[in-house]
Amino acid sequence: MKFDKQFIFGTATSSYQIEGAHQEGGRTPSIWDEFCDIPGKVHKSHNGNVACDHYHRYEEDIQIIKSLGVDSYRFSIAWPRIFPEKGVYNPEGMEFYRKLASRLREEGIKPAVTLYHWDLPLWAHKEGGWVNRDSVQWFLDYAKVCFEELDGIVDSWITHNEPWCAGFLGYHQGVHAPGHTNLDEAVKAVHHMLVSHGKAVEMLKKDFQSTTPIGITLNLSPVYPKTNSANDLLAANNSDGYSNRWFLDPVFKGTYPVDMMNLFSKYVHSYDFIKDGDMETIAAKCDFFGINYYSRGLVEFSAANDFMTKGAHSDYEKTAMGWDIAPEEFKDLIRRLRAEYTDLPIFITENGAAYDDVLQDGKVHDQARINYVDKHLQAVSDLNEEGMNIRGYYLWSLMDNFEWSFGYDKRFGIVYVDYETQKRTLKDSALWYTEVVKNRGTVL
Ligand code: NOJ
Repeated sequence: MKFDKQFIFGTATSSYQIEGAHQEGGRTPSIWDEFCDIPGKVHKSHNGNVACDHYHRYEEDIQIIKSLGVDSYRFSIAWPRIFPEKGVYNPEGMEFYRKLASRLREEGIKPAVTLYHWDLPLWAHKEGGWVNRDSVQWFLDYAKVCFEELDGIVDSWITHNEPWCAGFLGYHQGVHAPGHTNLDEAVKAVHHMLVSHGKAVEMLKKDFQSTTPIGITLNLSPVYPKTNSANDLLAANNSDGYSNRWFLDPVFKGTYPVDMMNLFSKYVHSYDFIKDGDMETIAAKCDFFGINYYSRGLVEFSAANDFMTKGAHSDYEKTAMGWDIAPEEFKDLIRRLRAEYTDLPIFITENGAAYDDVLQDGKVHDQARINYVDKHLQAVSDLNEEGMNIRGYYLWSLMDNFEWSFGYDKRFGIVYVDYETQKRTLKDSALWYTEVVKNRGTVL
């Protein structure tokens, strides 16, 4: 594999997953603080109260990032640090991110900043959260102060991270905060997130006249039918609609997929929450497109549910999450995006794998993670040879952290975190990645 000098290598994290300090600096709870307290929702009732204590250890973490030699670091801002109460701005919360971004820049690392990585302030949730259209304005108030205070020391903005998870896992499947199981709510929540994305893009460009690149990050997973039977093809089409097209179509074409609108209509009784101009807003022109890629989907027909689809058995090698390792399918995905959706520069804003790492004699031999990342980086390099214009790759994650409903049980880091002592240890994958970054390609 080969990458040119301009290619951005990075690592990624998010606020709730690493920061801890849940009651410091004026922070109030987010929906995840509350969700973790509901028995049975999160593995062993883990929570983000302390997490990796990054809030206090960010200097040490910046030194680790620096030692990797990466060009950029992607992190997210915790909205409840910035607006702990409705309409009440907290400069102390902003100060943390100003320090973080400035220190990164001093060390030559470009901050790539996500505004929403799922930690909605609890006050907003109490007023209906993303289901309430007012959430669009709340988000804009929040985005505005972030732009006012940080644009200039941030190298790129990402409005939302994976609205599929925040919307469908949070409001439809109930496995993420706020834990609701209502498709009507989920579809509205997603719509408001997407409108808030488009409006934030317009605000940065028009009101701030900023040239800082801004985009959105979607999690995409190409879906394949188990067989070529008409039934399995239908199942794959519906899964693709739910996971991918429901987001790609509005963001790039300014429409929702009609087949899915029909399928959803059993639960979504009216689409009148889509107001005049919303679809144009959602399709606001961005500067890049962020993709989080982990795995493919394999499905077959099922008569047992409304979407007529269910996961099928796959004999692919899997990560500790049970996710298929599928670098070839990643190539299919990117080629499809180029053919059907966009010619914007693409950034892989997340890719990586969980494994059951063991720390022994100060080392973690995570060869399986190296293999995973190696295959996907090879795919990125191949795709760029084909002219697919992928400009950067952020490895998820810089360090082990709070993996949402899996708690601390799943480790995605290239740096091992001992949660008892908060000691960080570079895994073999971190040492390997350092060499890849340095050599802009393969390490023998
Ligand atoms: C995507 C999410 O953005 C991130 O928060 C999560 O930890 C990783 N995927 C791994 O599941």
